Amino acid sequence: MNRRKFLRQGCIFCVGATVMPMMLESCQATHYVDGTTATNGLEVATAEFTFVKKGKTEMRQYIIVQNDKLEFPIYLYRISENEYSALWMKCSHQGAELQAVGDHLQCPSHGSEFTNKGIVNHGPAEKNLRSFPTSILGDKIMIDLRLS
Ligand code: FES
Repeated sequence: MNRRKFLRQGCIFCVGATVMPMMLESCQATHYVDGTTATNGLEVATAEFTFVKKGKTEMRQYIIVQNDKLEFPIYLYRISENEYSALWMKCSHQGAELQAVGDHLQCPSHGSEFTNKGIVNHGPAEKNLRSFPTSILGDKIMIDLRLS
């Protein structure tokens, strides 16, 4: 192997070794759920927010709810045991699909940011995100899609 080939393969390995753990970490952090169609919207089991890590039950901060009937997914953020925020993941600027980044949402198109309650944190977007009322019914979180 000549020097140039050695350096090229070394660089590819270094980039892979650096990027792969970040990709795996971000994949583990986001939990996608298929919301079940209910009378007035969607329902999701509260258990979707729990997971077991090293034998200990922990809570997810948020999940992404998908459904074939939805044009965009819904970011469902757990504020407390009985309070959730459900946000349409469509940017209020020009309609790009938002990305969940922990407790806030970012737009990959022009960089707008929104809080976990859908409030504009950083433009160019000027309008808050569309949000949906939520309620708890037994062990389910109901997302009401009628009013918004
Ligand atoms: S479409 Fe989201 S910031 Fe422009």
